[in-house]
Amino acid sequence: MNYFSETLKKYFLIPVVSIKSLDKIIPLTQTLQDAGIKFLEITYRNENAGEALRILQKNNFNIIIGAGTIRTLAQAEEAIQCGAQFLVSPGYNKDIIHFAAKKNIPFVPGVDSTLGIELANSEGFSLLKFFPAEISGGVKWLKSIKGPYPEIKFIPTGGITLENLDFYVKLANVAGIGGSFLAPKNLISESKWDKIALICNKAIKIVESARE
Ligand code: 3PG
Repeated sequence: MNYFSETLKKYFLIPVVSIKSLDKIIPLTQTLQDAGIKFLEITYRNENAGEALRILQKNNFNIIIGAGTIRTLAQAEEAIQCGAQFLVSPGYNKDIIHFAAKKNIPFVPGVDSTLGIELANSEGFSLLKFFPAEISGGVKWLKSIKGPYPEIKFIPTGGITLENLDFYVKLANVAGIGGSFLAPKNLISESKWDKIALICNKAIKIVESARE
């Protein structure tokens, strides 16, 4: 977990993407890397996730590649075989938690409640995905949860945009930000790499100035 957490501290942003056409994965990853992004999360929301990970495994990007929306052991297993370097789940799944621990791969379970925090924390987790962030209370939720759970850090994901990013990044219990806003699916499908680079540049600037 250390390498993942340490890199997250510095780079903070995790673009979350679902790959519809596999021919987009290389130019997309190149664009993100050139823009200064250090993470990419490929979601298991369609049948291309494993293959997209496999393609990236064969290429030498200087980006930490992970698999998201992991809901089953089969997906976790495939993702690791295909080179995923971290796993993310939308919720709390005990089987996946134990599997990830056995495989010694960084894993970030998702929560949206005190119950989720308690369950994940009782398994030793102090870095959690807060999902779906905006609709579950967003910045207000994170501020309220800091009192009872000061040591727990979150990666809010779901509904984050360039417009609200700044409010999240300023919170002491936010350890990183995930979202598709960094590489929106319409821009990926239209191969608008320059526009994606521009969004990432803006997001990086927001993070840098919010954390000064
Ligand atoms: C995820 O899978 O983590 C989320 O769907 C990302 O949410 P967003 O599209 O609102 O950023």
